[in-house]
Amino acid sequence: MKRIIPKFILQILLPLLNTTSDIFFKVKYGFWPPIRGSDLVGYEILLDFIKQHHLLDLGGDVVEIGTFLGGGANKLAKFLERERSSKILYVIDIFDPNFDWTLNTSGIAMANIYNDLLTKFNGRSQQDVFLDINRDCTNIECLIGDSK
Ligand SMILES: C[S@@+](CC[C@H](N)C(=O)[O-])C[C@H]1O[C@@H](n2cnc3c(N)ncnc32)[C@H](O)[C@@H]1O
Repeated sequence: MKRIIPKFILQILLPLLNTTSDIFFKVKYGFWPPIRGSDLVGYEILLDFIKQHHLLDLGGDVVEIGTFLGGGANKLAKFLERERSSKILYVIDIFDPNFDWTLNTSGIAMANIYNDLLTKFNGRSQQDVFLDINRDCTNIECLIGDSK
C-alpha cells in the first residue's frame, strides 16, 4: 500500500501527538501516565467511573488481578494517591509470560502477545519492568502467584 504521509513527517508527528496526549492526561488526572506500552487496558475509563460514582467512599481496598507490566496498576495507584485515599492496591499476577496460552478473539495466544510486547523492553523480565515502573508507588502490595 502506498504511504500517504511520508515517513519523516510521521517520525515528527507521532512523538508530538504522544507528548500532547501525555500533557492532556497530566492535566486531567494530576499525574504523568506510565511509560508507553506498559498499560494494555487503558484504565482511564475505570478512573473516571470510580470518581463519577464516588467508589472510593466504599470500604475495603482495591485488587487488580493480572497486571502484566504494571502500567495500569501505576495509574490506579497514583489515582488513589491523588485522591488522598489510604486504600492499598493489591496486585496479583503470575509474572510468567508463558503461562497463558488462551487464544484471544483474533486467534492469537496471549503468551505470544506478552512475549512480543516484552521485546520492546529489551528482554527484561515482566516482573522487573513491573517493579521499575511502580518503584515510587508505596500503596501497591504485589502478590506473585496464580490468582486461583
Ligand atoms: C491482559 S494482562 C493484564 C493487563 C493489565 N491489567 C493492564 O492494564 O495493562 C493479563 C495478565 O494476567 C496474568 N494472568 C493470567 N492468568 C493468571 C492467573 N491465573 N493468575 C495470575 N495472573 C494471571 C498474566 O500473566 C498477565 O500479566
